[in-house]
Amino acid sequence: MLRKFSFSIDSLPLGCLESPSKSGSDARVIKSPSRVNMIQNAIRQLATLIFLPLTLAGRMIEVALSFVSQLKAGDLCLEGKVVVVTGASSGLGERLAHAFYNEGCKLILASRRLPELTRVRDEILASESRNERVIPPVVVQLDLAETGKIQDTANAILGIYGHVDILVNNAGISYRGEISETTPDVDVKIMTVNYFGTVALTKALLPSMVARKTGHIAMIGSVQAKLAIPFRSAYAASKHALQAFSDCLRAEMNHNNIGVTVVNPGYVKTNLSLNALTGSGQQYGQMDENTESGLDPVKAAARIVTAIKRKQDELLLCEWYYHIIVFVRSLFPKLFFMAMVHRAAKQFAAKKDV
Ligand SMILES: NC(=O)c1ccc[n+]([C@@H]2O[C@H](COP(=O)([O-])OP(=O)(O)OC[C@H]3O[C@@H](n4cnc5c(N)ncnc54)[C@H](OP(=O)(O)O)[C@@H]3O)[C@@H](O)[C@H]2O)c1
Repeated sequence: MLRKFSFSIDSLPLGCLESPSKSGSDARVIKSPSRVNMIQNAIRQLATLIFLPLTLAGRMIEVALSFVSQLKAGDLCLEGKVVVVTGASSGLGERLAHAFYNEGCKLILASRRLPELTRVRDEILASESRNERVIPPVVVQLDLAETGKIQDTANAILGIYGHVDILVNNAGISYRGEISETTPDVDVKIMTVNYFGTVALTKALLPSMVARKTGHIAMIGSVQAKLAIPFRSAYAASKHALQAFSDCLRAEMNHNNIGVTVVNPGYVKTNLSLNALTGSGQQYGQMDENTESGLDPVKAAARIVTAIKRKQDELLLCEWYYHIIVFVRSLFPKLFFMAMVHRAAKQFAAKKDV
């Protein structure tokens, strides 16, 4: 397949990559590759038509297989498990902390703001849902942007109970901006927190899980791990990267009895957009309409905990129409690209009107 593909690209005359004049000897060069392109396009369209039913059947088999494997695996009992939740100082992470505590877990809450983590811990202890629990959550300061310090933080985490059963990589920052106006520093910051820092923490805790031949890692990605939408480049790129890393991790860790659940939420009603970075690195500071009307974080956290208990590989946690868009993106990419061009044009027009 690969050889065939590279042959077709290599076989294109170099003239088609240059900017030929519309008359003279170049004319022949333009004509021939465009015919080749047309034939290639026709073959591609035909292949899509032929493979469409196969893809649909494949998806159905995939759903059936994951259902069977879930039944076989049974539910993970969370009682007494040591669970680390990053980004537990607000939003989804805060609600996840409550949900895991209600399951009887020994919690370790991590993020940058210790006072906020302490507030979350105190509210958990004050909540009446699980009075009989006597193990208060432990708070740990963690800055995912400081990748050099992550191993030390992981060692401190391992020192608390001697091991970690479940790592929930929830911490993250979002971004709002136009690629051409975004400084590379902002791209680096988003990738560092959402991807490199998260990967570093995972790798720092993994050897202990491998040694015990048990563990579970949950990654809170985003629907933007599947769909890249304009003006979210750095964020979508970081979540795409996290999805790819997680898929490799799942395959490589299966023989060590370590599971990986990737949760890709749509909009959840949190402060994510308020805390998002703009192209210049400032805080965006606005509550997006979509985020404001997003999923209730309590309900989102409950569904995430269930997915982890079931050792689900993936959870696309969003409205039904996002499932269709993800489907369209993989089966009819051209349609999706056209919609995104339209969306970007609308946003550029709105920007001009301001
Ligand atoms: N809300 C949505 O619509 C939505 C949709 C899809 C995916 N998600 C994902 O859900 C996760 C949680 O976000 P949220 O919606 O709950 O937003 P949020 O309220 O802004 O929470 C983000 C959390 O990440 C922590 N954090 C940020 N930078 C960090 C750093 N450098 N090191 C360590 N922790 C850091 C923050 O804590 P500190 O400030 O204390 O460090 C905070 O607890 C994120 O991964 C986000 O991408 C959210």
